Amino acid sequence: MKHIALIPGDGIGKEVIDAGMKVLDAVSEISSFDYDAELFDVGSSRYLKTGELITDEELADLREKDSIYFGAIGDPKVKPGVLEQGVLLKMRTALDLYINLRPVTSWHPYVPLKREVDFDIHFIRENTEDFYMGAGGMVGSSGGNVGIKLKRELYELRLSLDVSSEPPEEFAFEIGLLSRKGVERFADYAFEYARARGDEKVTLVDKANVCTDIYGFQRRIFEAKAAEHGMKLDYMYVDAMAMAMIARPETFGTVAVPNLFGDVLTDLGAQLQGGLGLGASGNINPKGTSMFEPIHGSAPDIAGKGIANPIAAILAAKMMLDNLGYPETGGIVLNAVRYCLKNGRVTPDMGGKMTTDEVGMAVSRAVLDQRT
Ligand code: NAD
Ligand code: IPM
Ligand code: MN
Repeated sequence: MKHIALIPGDGIGKEVIDAGMKVLDAVSEISSFDYDAELFDVGSSRYLKTGELITDEELADLREKDSIYFGAIGDPKVKPGVLEQGVLLKMRTALDLYINLRPVTSWHPYVPLKREVDFDIHFIRENTEDFYMGAGGMVGSSGGNVGIKLKRELYELRLSLDVSSEPPEEFAFEIGLLSRKGVERFADYAFEYARARGDEKVTLVDKANVCTDIYGFQRRIFEAKAAEHGMKLDYMYVDAMAMAMIARPETFGTVAVPNLFGDVLTDLGAQLQGGLGLGASGNINPKGTSMFEPIHGSAPDIAGKGIANPIAAILAAKMMLDNLGYPETGGIVLNAVRYCLKNGRVTPDMGGKMTTDEVGMAVSRAVLDQRT
């Protein structure tokens, strides 16, 4: 019996998790996978009522679960960043979910590319460091003075950082930080993952031609780790990577990417598969409880209309089953999704006519049809 925490969250998060639960129920009827679910009321409505984001007790309860199934967070009624940082980024940090696995697979015929190529890119996004550490602030009239010393004169000139002028120049900063420990565990995971998949190399995406300090540091660690693992390593700059994902997606396998670029490239990857409604992810703590979620957000523009595509959430449930040690059961869900996509059992974003609920039921039926 697996114990699963459910955090539907905001907007379409609730709608797609409902559909995902139907599929998990179907799966538990026909396989050895059995679970109970505890609902966590985390999200904008509670925040607006009580001011609570996610509490230490809740985090402690989450740590005791076998897995977490998460919808989405974010509400136009709340200032940007409050829920995102206070709930989602908080969980990723507090539970040390340091890897974000985001597969990008060709889902014919929904792939928008003119060439019919098969691709299966596995993005391994570092999930706790880089520009996501909250190391930012303001300097100047609204922020007071802080003693940061920029080592390059060029930048001082370009930003004209005269903090001694009256009134002081105002500027904001957000620092990207990478720790040796953080990069080492990220690299270990990427090389082990590539080997397990049968890839001979890892492609590391960065911007080492501009952010030379952090990404130069990251490259040195990845090089040492490549030698240690006896694997190959190559590099792509993130701008060229965005282009290459469209031009030749079939040439990539295991791709390691730092946090911020990984966020951007995997929305591009989702669209490359056929839409944001297809992109699933696993926030992984290799030694603890992991969390599975669609990569999309709460989609306030379509929330409440019953048309959100639940496939991303269903594929996130599939990743959860794989992670919990039920890869065959995960395979059943994948077959069911394939069947529904092939037969046009899809929501309007993919050209179909079905509601979120109907797609959830169609995938569930396709699961039950695989009863042996
Ligand atoms: P979004 O991913 O919510 O939506 C982007 C666009 O894609 C919208 O037009 C939306 O309607 C569409 N879309 C997304 N998911 C869909 C689905 N399953 N089916 C059909 N269409 C879908 O991104 P946004 O609009 O930039 O952000 C909305 C809120 O969500 C913000 O508060 C943001 O911070 C938050 N957000 C949360 C997460 C998360 O919880 N993991 C991820 C991204 C954004
Ligand atoms: C994602 C989201 C989050 C991120 C936000 C909501 C904090 O965009 O999961 O991709 O930037 O990681
Ligand atoms: Mn994102």
